[in-house]
Amino acid sequence: MPKIIIENLYHKEISAKEPDYKVIEIIHDNYVDWMHACGKKGRCTTCMMIVEDGMENLSELTEREVSYRNLGKLKPNQRLTCQARLKEGTIRIRVNDQYKLPHMDYSE
Ligand code: FES
Repeated sequence: MPKIIIENLYHKEISAKEPDYKVIEIIHDNYVDWMHACGKKGRCTTCMMIVEDGMENLSELTEREVSYRNLGKLKPNQRLTCQARLKEGTIRIRVNDQYKLPHMDYSE
């Protein structure tokens, strides 16, 4: 099954039930809290992840992500977890410092 490793959450490993799930849904299904201020609608960027490895295992950029890219608000190594789907394999990601939740214990 597709797998996510969250590097700055003590290298936490979580799995998807099936391929082609939105990354934020996989994160929430595994009881990990992750910021999503606009309610997963692609309108805020707070759900952003930094992708360290496995970008090729994610779906293509959505229209919302392309528009944030064009505005310079989404770097080439960043994706929105509410837009990107994990097709297969493993991705290694990090929570962006700017969007860390105050009640969570991050390892870095
Ligand atoms: S939750 Fe707002 S863009 Fe993803």
